[in-house]
This record gives sequence, C-alpha cells and structure tokens, in this order.
Amino acid sequence: KKYNVAVVGATGAVGKTMLEILEERHFPIANIYPLASARSAGEKIDFNKKQVTIKNLADFDFSQVDIALFSAGGEVSAQYAPIAASKKCVVIDNTSYFRNEEDVPLVVPEVNPEAIKDYKSTYIIANPNCSTIQMLVALAPIHRKAGIERINVATYQSVSGAGNKGIDELSEQTKSILNFQPLKISAFSHQIAFNVIPQIDQFQDNGYTREEMKMVWETQKILGDRSIMVNPTCVRVPVFYGHSEAVHIETRDKITAEQVKQLMSESAGIELMDEPSASAYPSPAVHSAGNDAVYVGRIREDISYDKGINMWIVSDNIRKGAALNSVQIAEKLIKILDKE
Ligand code: A2P
Repeated sequence: KKYNVAVVGATGAVGKTMLEILEERHFPIANIYPLASARSAGEKIDFNKKQVTIKNLADFDFSQVDIALFSAGGEVSAQYAPIAASKKCVVIDNTSYFRNEEDVPLVVPEVNPEAIKDYKSTYIIANPNCSTIQMLVALAPIHRKAGIERINVATYQSVSGAGNKGIDELSEQTKSILNFQPLKISAFSHQIAFNVIPQIDQFQDNGYTREEMKMVWETQKILGDRSIMVNPTCVRVPVFYGHSEAVHIETRDKITAEQVKQLMSESAGIELMDEPSASAYPSPAVHSAGNDAVYVGRIREDISYDKGINMWIVSDNIRKGAALNSVQIAEKLIKILDKE
C-alpha cells in the first residue's frame, strides 16, 4: 500500500531533512506534497528524481493526504494541524504545541511505540523535543533494568535547533568576528559565535526555561512515570549540527558501568563509543552530524553517589531529534494503517 504524504515546512532545516529521509528509507509514497508559506510556494524541489512544486499551506486541501509531517513552528501547527486531522489525515507534529495534551501520543519509537495505536483519538501524534528524544533512547533500557529515579542533565545544543535562522546566525557572526565587523544578533538573545548561552526558549516563572521544562514533562509522559525527577539545564553552543548531553542518573537498583555499556551495545538505535584509552567518545560535529544513531560514551559510576551513573549522549538533532524520529513514527503508523 502506498500513501499520500505532506511535509509542512518543506523548505526548513527539519522539513528538508524529512524529505531526504523519506527518500532514503524508501517510504511507500504515492504522492508527496511539500508545503510552505506563500514566500516559497511555486518553487520546485527534487523528490525521488522527480520535480515537485512547493504548495502554499494556507489554501491546501488535506483531504487528499493520509499522513502530514509538520515542522513549521508551533503557531502553524496550532492553526493547521487540527484542520488536517479533521480530514482524517494523521498529523505527526514536530512542534511542542500538542505534546502535553493527554490524548495526543508522544512517541520515541525505540521507547514507547505502543502509544502510536491511539492515534485515532485526535489524529495527531507528537514528536518529542530533540533533547528529550536522544536522552530517552539511551536511558530507557537502563530504566527498564534498574529503574531511574532522578536525572540531572546539562545539554550542549547546536544552533540548527533554531532552524535555518540559527544556522545562518552562527555562520554570519563567525565571519563578522574574524573580519572585525559589527555583529548582528537576532536568532538568539546574545552573540552565539565563540560563546555559549544558558537560555533556550522563554523563561518560566519557576526560573527554568521552556526547553528545560519540556525535558521534564516529556520524559515523564514518554516513560509513563510522573514520579521520575528531571533536573535540566539547557545551553546553546556554537555547533551547527548535533546536540550533546552530560547526563547523571540515580537508579532504584545498583547498576554498574559495565552493565550499562552492555545494555547500550545491545539496544536499538544506540552506538556505544567508549574507549577512554583511545580517546574514543562521541562528539557532535565529528560523529553525529548527518548520522542516525544516538551515540553514547564516557559511561562511568558516580564517585559521589552509590547508585549513580554518568554518561555523555550525542545525536544529530535534525535527524534523530526531529526528522528521522517523525519518519520512524510514520513507518510504525503505516504498519497499523496497512491492516485497516
Ligand atoms: P518558508 O520557507 O516559506 O518561510 P526553519 O525551522 O528552518 O526556520 O523553517 C521553517 C519552515 O516553516 C519553512 O519551511 C517555512 O516556510 C515554514 N513556515 C513558516 N511559517 C509558515 C506559515 N505561516 N505557513 C506555512 N509555512 C510556514
């Protein structure tokens, strides 16, 4: 069976990669509909060796589409995802807009694929935040074995998480600084080139940013356990592609670093890269960018706490953190749709 698929935000950093991954993984597509704003409507792109015209989302009829992958920002999803869903087009939404709604499945295919079958309650499935996805791919196997009670995490997030404008801002500022020119600041609240910024998204009343609270809410929802404590600090770093995370977990049962390494080496979607004597550990630009895996290294027991493990988790935020995870959800969804 083949499906009619729309990609909303087809000219964006994530949307472009969604189209590439649909091609790469030979998703069974009858017709592809790349959608964007009036600014890009009419432009042509290549898909499966054919030219396809980008259409304007504002006047698109979703009744001709089976599955729509949305990645054009929260406001666009808020307005158009319900319209698509009302036409029984299943929306896989990459924004944070619907993630916390109780009857919207929030899915990492390696962690809670069973949630996809509930798509019919709203016809919307949410794709989690990039930092949450890579963290949970690595932590879910440990949680199943030893029970994670608390997660301390500091992120090192690349500029592509802010879309094309984030990528452009890092390259423009880098050029300006090296040429002694004045800086333009718009995508981030401060200079990002040769700097780090401890703010991603807006601040909440509790002093945490929304990005940090996404890691709390989404971890609890995906693991189905509201008692798991998450203590995050999210930081933007001058890296183009790939988020890194220093993660410190506390478990109910003691688990050794060797046992964690064994789990990582046998779990889906994970690549273990942990040979301290050879300086082997993952880094975002060198190892993760352009690749699918969640890379894990620096696994060691916490010397300050008996049931603690430290680890370093790196993945391409545009691929596993966004486009790839959405396509993997779609692949699992069509296994259900094929039978209907
Ligand atoms: P466009 O290129 O027409 O502006 P990024 O996350 O890289 O910034 O990309 C955002 C994506 O969302 C782009 O594809 C952009 O299309 C699309 N987009 C932004 N606003 C709208 C809108 N109001 N309607 C449709 N698409 C939109």
